[in-house]
Amino acid sequence: MRIFEEDNGQMLIGGISAEELAERFGTPLFVTDEFALRLNYRRISQAFSQHMPIRVHYACKANTNLAVLRVLEQEGSCIDAVSIGEVDTCLRVGFTPDRILYTGVNVSDEELEAVVDRGVMINIDSFHELRRLAAISTGDKVSFRVTPNVGSGHHDKVVTGKKASKFGIPLEEIMDAYREAVNLDLVPVGVHAHIGSGGQSVEPFIEVTEVLIGVANRVEEELGITLEFIDIGGGIGIPYHPDEQEMDVEQLGAILTRMVLEDSNVGTFALEPGRYIVADTTVLLSRVVDIKETGGKAYIGVDAGFNNLIRPAMYDSYHHVVIVNRYGAEPEAEYDVAGPVCESGDILAKGRMLPEAQNGDLIAVLDAGAYGSTMSSQYNSRPRCAEVLVIDGQADLIRERETLEDVLRNQRVPERLMQ
Ligand code: LLP
Repeated sequence: MRIFEEDNGQMLIGGISAEELAERFGTPLFVTDEFALRLNYRRISQAFSQHMPIRVHYACKANTNLAVLRVLEQEGSCIDAVSIGEVDTCLRVGFTPDRILYTGVNVSDEELEAVVDRGVMINIDSFHELRRLAAISTGDKVSFRVTPNVGSGHHDKVVTGKKASKFGIPLEEIMDAYREAVNLDLVPVGVHAHIGSGGQSVEPFIEVTEVLIGVANRVEEELGITLEFIDIGGGIGIPYHPDEQEMDVEQLGAILTRMVLEDSNVGTFALEPGRYIVADTTVLLSRVVDIKETGGKAYIGVDAGFNNLIRPAMYDSYHHVVIVNRYGAEPEAEYDVAGPVCESGDILAKGRMLPEAQNGDLIAVLDAGAYGSTMSSQYNSRPRCAEVLVIDGQADLIRERETLEDVLRNQRVPERLMQ
């Protein structure tokens, strides 16, 4: 949870008052702080790069806004992409194919061909994918995603590394995959795993690194191939709740790189942070449109809902909420913050102590930069909202607010129904 600057009881972001941004661009509105974005990237990257050569593959599923990607391209980031759409988005803002690693699951032939066609390296998820890839193209560098039997994450729905997961090649069979790749004329250069998303403890990262080092060493002993990289995936959590501790990424970097340096001959350490880089850079601004008391409960009704930020409804995720125009004021009453979607699950925040709210107030839902906009929808025929990038008192629109025309664009009514 980020602490923001304050001016006369008004919350500032990127040197601009949040209220001014809401008035200028409307609500709901995602506001991303460019300085925070650059800082997060530099912090995670330096935590590892001070010890050995690294590659930070930003997991762009967290936030694919072109301006956000452009900033990270300038910072020197690489990309973890999960679809051809993500690959092409990143190519469009200047990432070269050699900076992108494609990690798909249940990949279609068409998508596999398209990724190969772009010259992007594939991190193979299954034996069937391996064989289909070899039928399309040989001589390419590849890596494998192994199921490490180590799982971690903020919710069951985002734990990926446990045994019997839908992701990766079982650890027990991974050597067969490397052997078969060599026989099929592919060139294995890496090993990858992703334990899950939003974990807050260091231990699972140590365990997965151990597993990956074990695989790399067996590939070297049994096949005579020294892998170029070990990729531990993403999953570094952030403290969404004021009581949560931040993970010590410097310590994480020191421990994990030392393991790789001491116990293997692998030259590059790769990681795929998504949430860590973008989550706390962005707030979702939303206008208070109604205040209701019912059955002993008080609701603040706002114009943003799970169509804009689905994490609370989908994973019971905590996002801190503040009243922007009373930033720093003492809490006075307990509220649920509810959106306009016609479902009782459309609650952005439950049981929060806040200063007394009034119609017309502006709230900010914090830490909305990861899996906010990218998971938003047009449910209830609500156009997706606008996004702005702020820095040093300057604000640029980086995504226009959609219109109803955008919602309806691809729909057709057959002529025969128009009679
Ligand atoms: N690498 C791979 C292979 C992944 O599948 C993911 C996330 C990441 C990296 C990045 O994980 P991160 O560093 O962001 O935790 N929608 C959920 C999170 C889903 C994560 C899916 N995979 C949420 O809102 O919490």
